[in-house]
Amino acid sequence: MDFGGILAEGKARAQTHLRVIDKEPYALPDAMTAKVAVIGLGYVGLPLVIGFSENRKAIGFDISQNKLAELRANIDSTGEVNPSDLVESDVHYTSNPEDLADADVIIVCVPTPVSSHNKPDYSPLLAASRTIGENMKQGAVVVFESTVDPGTTENKCQPVIEQASGFKEGIDFYLGYSPERINPADPTRKLPDIKKIVAGSTPLVTQFLEKLYARVINAGLYPAANIKVAEAAKILENTQRDVNIALMNQMMTLFDKMGIRSTDVIAAASSKWNFHHYRPGLVGGHCIAVDPYFLIDAGRRHGLPMELVAAARAVNEQTPYFMVEKLEELFEANNQSIRGKRVLVLGRSFKEDCADTRNSKAFKMMDAIWAAGADVDCFDPVADDDHFEGGRGAKIIDDPFTQEKYDAIIVTLVHKVFLEQFDIDTLKSLAKKHSPLVDLRGAFEGDEIKDHFNYWRP
Ligand SMILES: NC(=O)c1ccc[n+]([C@@H]2O[C@H](COP(=O)([O-])OP(=O)(O)OC[C@H]3O[C@@H](n4cnc5c(N)ncnc54)[C@H](O)[C@@H]3O)[C@@H](O)[C@H]2O)c1
Repeated sequence: MDFGGILAEGKARAQTHLRVIDKEPYALPDAMTAKVAVIGLGYVGLPLVIGFSENRKAIGFDISQNKLAELRANIDSTGEVNPSDLVESDVHYTSNPEDLADADVIIVCVPTPVSSHNKPDYSPLLAASRTIGENMKQGAVVVFESTVDPGTTENKCQPVIEQASGFKEGIDFYLGYSPERINPADPTRKLPDIKKIVAGSTPLVTQFLEKLYARVINAGLYPAANIKVAEAAKILENTQRDVNIALMNQMMTLFDKMGIRSTDVIAAASSKWNFHHYRPGLVGGHCIAVDPYFLIDAGRRHGLPMELVAAARAVNEQTPYFMVEKLEELFEANNQSIRGKRVLVLGRSFKEDCADTRNSKAFKMMDAIWAAGADVDCFDPVADDDHFEGGRGAKIIDDPFTQEKYDAIIVTLVHKVFLEQFDIDTLKSLAKKHSPLVDLRGAFEGDEIKDHFNYWRP
């Protein structure tokens, strides 16, 4: 046996290993002047890149040529950025991955949807990680903002970046996570106004992120204990909303059977100091109605069925059908059937005053009304139908007033513009006398309405 050879080889391997460990880590960039690139310029990424461009030209990277063309023409289809801020901002919009090599910090805001089987789909996140790995410079800091289940940043994204770059986290680049908490269509809580959680792979990286994000956040920063805690905090926030709204939706169904209006119950219960105010509604969109599935999937991997979270999801997915049942009941009370009737639905975006219709449960409801035999027209002057997700059921109309009178109206949500446009007389003019009016938000209640309509609110 050639002990000499084995020893020499072992020594060489040890030296290589030592060289890796001994390698001086790259210095973190200067947080105040770092050049920032944002990957994914949607609801989350666009305000961020505009904010970071204030004191240094920023890079806005997206794979959608449509999106880039719009932004270069100063058009923001999300409505999240002030038009003047967009015009005045200093952003290089690009789909060229090589441009990322110029960035000191790369922030990832790509979608994290679920599949048709409600399984997390990390393909955009992993594609972005690969692009980063193939192009970033050494010493860069990579921050993920996309909502993920705890462990994804370090266990899924980091290895992809390391493999694509040949770099090592903590030596050649640094990793962080900072969940986004923006509230679309809420002008009072824009990016700078919402306290932001930050977490780095080490306390030094966390400190760096606190300084970095202070450039765009006025409301303060919360340094989380570590990346997994920051990831879990975001998922918990959204799941808490989903579960609580599910409770209100289930209560709505039960109280309705008991002849009690749930909104009256909620108003009464809210008089107690520690009652948490939630109201029934259609839970759609790409956050609250999606993120709990990440936890359900994580639970499955850890042998926990996550019954409460799963039950809440199931209840909220049933609410559109409850509204259809309500409509059928109101027709029956008039000795009529829903079959062959013309129904007007007001509202199809997933929340009030928001253009976004992704995963809006109004579509599920409209499909069910159509399947029950009625014709459905949907009017929503706020909705952006780039994301039209209706099945067979609904006809989208631009003007409900030119049609002949409807047999029923369902109000799924109340955009400000509805309250401005639909006074009582206008609403009455849209539908025949004694038509069912299902008003999920209880926005139109009043004696005159009850006189004209067969009215229901929760
Ligand atoms: N919208 C919200 O209110 C909100 C709030 C908090 C967190 N989030 C989370 O933030 C993330 C982004 O959400 P959003 O609403 O901004 O999404 P979005 O769909 O509005 O925008 C995502 C953008 O990413 C681009 N993109 C997709 N794959 C890409 C890739 N591989 N490389 C580069 N660009 C890519 C798309 O073209 C799109 O422009 C999601 O994880 C979401 O759950 C969203």
